Amino acid sequence: MREPSIRDAHERDLEAITQIHNAFVSTAAIEWTDVAHTVEERGAWLADQRSAGHPVLVAVVGDDVVGWASFGEFRDSSKWPGYRLTVENTIHVREDHWRGGAGRQLMNALIQRATDMGMHVMVAAVDRENDASIRFHERLGFHEVARMPQVGTKFGRWLDLVLLQRVLGESAPPPHTG
Ligand SMILES: CC(C)(COP(=O)(O)OP(=O)(O)OC[C@H]1O[C@@H](n2cnc3c(N)ncnc32)[C@H](O)[C@@H]1OP(=O)(O)O)[C@@H](O)C(=O)NCCC(=O)NCCS
Repeated sequence: MREPSIRDAHERDLEAITQIHNAFVSTAAIEWTDVAHTVEERGAWLADQRSAGHPVLVAVVGDDVVGWASFGEFRDSSKWPGYRLTVENTIHVREDHWRGGAGRQLMNALIQRATDMGMHVMVAAVDRENDASIRFHERLGFHEVARMPQVGTKFGRWLDLVLLQRVLGESAPPPHTG
């Protein structure tokens, strides 16, 4: 399998990003929604991510986008500024490229961006049954910090959430400004 390269997403990638994102919406609890994403909605999301200064990265093999990753706020830092140095990631790789290194490359680049922005912690929120994602995040230096039973629902049953985190840098807390 050819080595993927990583770059910032462009508008022309939205079709592929949307398809990869939707691949398991109707069959698995990887994403806690029953509603497929649309290219228009992903376009609005890309614009929002850019204006918030949050990266959206794609993994490319040849001319093909085979995965994407991004991060956003962990909790709303306009309401709770104390969370402003913690981000939550999202990552999806096309199934025919699983175990080919695209996920690791995307995550390494995402962690580098977060670190460069001065972020302190990255959180991954994963469905308990998504063993691949839990193992993947552990391989990328995340460790489990919480299990939250029955905080979600899909397919007429309760879903449990596993929270994993990675501290990005051992910096001291920012000075008190209050
Ligand atoms: C989780 C996911 C992003 C992994 O991407 P990937 O490109 O297959 O990952 P990589 O090939 O770069 O693997 C990176 C490391 O994770 C490990 N890993 C990946 N999938 C794994 C699995 N199913 N079981 C165990 N380990 C796994 C690899 O062995 C590798 O470790 P190593 O380099 O130390 O050997 C991919 O499976 C995916 O997109 N799944 C569906 C969407 C999803 O679950 N997203 C996360 C939602 S929280």
